[in-house]
Amino acid sequence: MSEILLALENVYVNFPARTNWRGKVTERVHALNGLDLQISRGETLGIVGESGCGKSTLAQLLMNMIKPASGICHRTRNTDSPPGSGMQMVFQDPLSSLDPRLPVWRIITEPVWIQRHNSEAQRRELAQSLALLTGIRPEYLDRLPHAFSGGQRQRIAIARALSAQPDIIVLDEPTSALDISVQAQILNLLVKLQRERELTYVLISHNVSVVRHMSDRVAVMYLGQIVELGTTEQVLTQPRHPYTRLLLDSVPRIDRSLEGEITDKKGELPGNRQLPQGCFFRDRCPLAAESCRQPQPLRTDASGAGVRCWRAGVISPPAL
Ligand SMILES: Nc1ncnc2c1ncn2[C@@H]1O[C@H](COP(=O)(O)OP(=O)(O)OP(=O)(O)O)[C@@H](O)[C@H]1O
Ligand code: SF4
Ligand SMILES: [Mg+2]
Repeated sequence: MSEILLALENVYVNFPARTNWRGKVTERVHALNGLDLQISRGETLGIVGESGCGKSTLAQLLMNMIKPASGICHRTRNTDSPPGSGMQMVFQDPLSSLDPRLPVWRIITEPVWIQRHNSEAQRRELAQSLALLTGIRPEYLDRLPHAFSGGQRQRIAIARALSAQPDIIVLDEPTSALDISVQAQILNLLVKLQRERELTYVLISHNVSVVRHMSDRVAVMYLGQIVELGTTEQVLTQPRHPYTRLLLDSVPRIDRSLEGEITDKKGELPGNRQLPQGCFFRDRCPLAAESCRQPQPLRTDASGAGVRCWRAGVISPPAL
């Protein structure tokens, strides 16, 4: 069993959605609703789920950019260091996440500016070595971000993340803004860096094939909960939760071997302002039954695989 680096226990996060004339919050968005998750050293954990299910909220929570309303999120080692340390994040849109006024060598070394013992020469040297590592031409390090293509900018964002020597990198849709051919190059770079630096990735993506290609384990999210968790093989080829099957069915695939019989009843994400009673997926679930009025816990087995559906065992595996 590999070392657990980060653990979330029954985490809830909500945001104020509406206030009355006195400034009192009258409505909240329930973004995370009882999330349990453990992240092990060296793995890539893929997070999938449709827009609004809470993926970026989870990323911000892991980065300690927001606090949970309840539950805990803790690093299981370096207990002295503050939460969020040893972690870096790469965002979807490299242009908006890079300061447009700074030359690239300064952007790359931004995370180490606060370390007082770094002279400019040392920082430039660090930027040079990270540029070589991530495939940025060192002679371009004095240019501004807008002089680079989307793929190159994402390399800059990755180099910047690496400068802080993180053990975990949270990748929130790292290739969604890029052309297909460039996507593959960035994913290959991430794989290479992971091998060389023993990195742990949390990879958030709409794109199931990206997650399939990259991840050791996959967590499927729906309305701020994990509805299915397991190895990539288990979750993406033998999905057990009706929502996972629906998600896979809605992905255009060359490989049609995952053909399932489940189709969407309504096709829209029910509001996370007024959370459903019982199983959150009940309104959309073709298998919904009377007993689904009970809230569903994430039932996990000894291997750590889990599913949040009492009928999961009832669903026959897809015909292969
Ligand atoms: N700062 C905020 N203030 C208010 N509501 C927020 C805030 N951040 C997120 N939300 C809401 O919380 C819910 C979850 O948002 P989140 O960004 O985590 O979803 P996501 O899964 O990352 O979606 P996408 O795939 O579109 O990026 C959404 O309903 C969103 O509108
Ligand atoms: S618990 Fe019921 S409603 Fe929820 S996913 Fe399972 S079958 Fe569907
Ligand atoms: Mg998001």
